Amino acid sequence: MINRKKIYNPSSQESVNERRIFGGNPTSIFELNKIKYQWAYNLWKVMLANSWFPEEVNMTQDKRDYSDGLTPEEKIGYDRALAQLIFMDSLQTNNLIDNVNPYVTSPEINLILVRQAFEEALHSQSYAVMVESISANTDEIYEMWRTDIQLRNKNDYIANVYEELAVNPTESTLLKAMFANQILEGIYFYSGFAFFYTLARSGKMLGSAQMIRFIQRDEVTHLLLFQNLINSLKKEMPHLFTKDLIDEVIEMFREAVRVESAWGDYITQGRILGLTSEIIHEYICYLADNRLTRVGLPALYNARHPIKWVDAFSSFNEQKTNFFEGNVTNYAKGSINFDDF
Ligand SMILES: [Fe+2]
Ligand SMILES: [Fe+2]
Repeated sequence: MINRKKIYNPSSQESVNERRIFGGNPTSIFELNKIKYQWAYNLWKVMLANSWFPEEVNMTQDKRDYSDGLTPEEKIGYDRALAQLIFMDSLQTNNLIDNVNPYVTSPEINLILVRQAFEEALHSQSYAVMVESISANTDEIYEMWRTDIQLRNKNDYIANVYEELAVNPTESTLLKAMFANQILEGIYFYSGFAFFYTLARSGKMLGSAQMIRFIQRDEVTHLLLFQNLINSLKKEMPHLFTKDLIDEVIEMFREAVRVESAWGDYITQGRILGLTSEIIHEYICYLADNRLTRVGLPALYNARHPIKWVDAFSSFNEQKTNFFEGNVTNYAKGSINFDDF
């Protein structure tokens, strides 16, 4: 079992070099004049520079598109994709604050987990702005996590690993939850994102796609956060990375690829131009390989990126022509390079 950190701990004499990702004995004072995990403090600054507000995205055309421009299949896909995102950001906000952060004993890492949780809450608000602005199917979309069996099954699976940590907090359930985080942020969001970008590429729901761009830019920092946590833990607590645990993690990734590919089929229903089952599956495999190799694990699929246009389409830095929103460039405060962390 691992213990939650004390929130007031004046008897601690822990020095900066003695800080641990978990299992430390912190004073719980944010002594940020001394930093052990420099990547965390660097990331904090990037996260702050990414600040944005959902109300600033212009959604007026989306309302018209949703009522007049979308095919029935596109509408169903839109509702399903949104319902899934609503669930995941709700889960993440609570998971980070109530499940993961209590065990993390480095103040600079607590700092970025709190910021991440704030961003997940902001994403929840952005879905509310999207649902309100299309002003149709509002309650249905918010009820889908309960009423849609496919969504329910997917969510049950996602929540399960986090639940394991909640009922049995050990070093290995915490580490597994960190890998689960990579899967959630790095795989489970992406069929939904690709769906919104595909609609936007055909000129529909441009405000929604813009909202998703802001959200995805945040998610990139969240991926980096947990990628660095896992890679730092490898050095700090190598004994946790047993063959059994790694086998379990690899099986989690394989199952995630199955679950997300099936979900992609469910939201597109084989009726969305440019997003076939094969493309979705290959894209998900490509993402899984990328997430695995970032934490030093072998690629499982050797998949190629089948929809490279998504990367440019989702990035503010490559939206130089600024064809969606007048104010986009105000937010683009610099690019982020995975290799800097
Ligand atoms: Fe999020
Ligand atoms: Fe996230």
